[in-house]
Amino acid sequence: MSTVELSSHRTTPDRPPPHGRLARRLARPGWVIMTLACVYIAIFFASPYLTFNPEVYFQREPYLQHEFALGVHVLSGTLALLIGPFQFIRRLRRRFVRVHRFMGATYVASATSLGVTGLILAPTAYTGLVASAGFTVLDLAMLFTTWTAVRMIVAGRYGEHRRWMIRSFSLIMAGVMLRVWSALYYAAAGVGLVDFSFETAYAAIAWLCWVPNLMLAIWFTRHPADVANAGVNRWWRRPGRRAALSVTDAVAESASSPRSRPSGRLGTS
Ligand code: HEM
Repeated sequence: MSTVELSSHRTTPDRPPPHGRLARRLARPGWVIMTLACVYIAIFFASPYLTFNPEVYFQREPYLQHEFALGVHVLSGTLALLIGPFQFIRRLRRRFVRVHRFMGATYVASATSLGVTGLILAPTAYTGLVASAGFTVLDLAMLFTTWTAVRMIVAGRYGEHRRWMIRSFSLIMAGVMLRVWSALYYAAAGVGLVDFSFETAYAAIAWLCWVPNLMLAIWFTRHPADVANAGVNRWWRRPGRRAALSVTDAVAESASSPRSRPSGRLGTS
């Protein structure tokens, strides 16, 4: 992202461009709901798998055959779910650059092993071909977005890095949405709203758990300026500090990159 993009909006944080308002309004409540959902799924759905007790397995035979891959999958998925939301807090990112980098590296390693093990599990997916295809495409998209984000940060393109990381995490959120859609199916079936089987629903859920997330992430990141300003830190800021932070944020961001030293004239490089 050019410094122009960064500074032109940061220096006027109280006046978001019209196209960014909805995305900004959604950022805070969206982050809170997302974080709570990640923690809930990690604790109640994923952690029981780490006991390696086949009684809790969703599918017994295929999971017993790939128990090591399943263990790595659940552990790395849990890590990615718990790290991801905190990487989006701008204040933490700016104040503790090294922590952000370390957690980012852990996120990328987790996402990569999640993806590799996901590819091992995908052919065994419950209900067969349609679900297997859904998980495989999800997996490849998640690996692609994550590693594109890495390429962008290595190139010093911060805005693009954020965009691709938002897309990457929206795909990791498939681990949450799979359980949400399954619960919705059971609720709808329970009150007679739908009368097809869980098997039919599951084949659709293997796609539903990630396609809407990705579409939302693409919409959310469609304007580079939205991404530059998006985040959940603004509600933590004291009003008097806003202007100062706007400038220092941009300098800190430039300074944290060995390839893009601040020129001293924001908005000109
Ligand atoms: C890119 C994201 C992901 C992909 C492609 C993926 C892929 C898969 C696949 C193919 C299966 C087998 C499904 C079946 O048996 O029908 C599976 C199961 C599982 N995955 Fe993932 N997964 C992803 C994210 C996550 C995340 C973030 C978690 C969180 C810890 C997670 C936890 C699990 C668990 C616990 C199972 C066992 C099945 C269950 O209890 O629902 N996955 N995953």
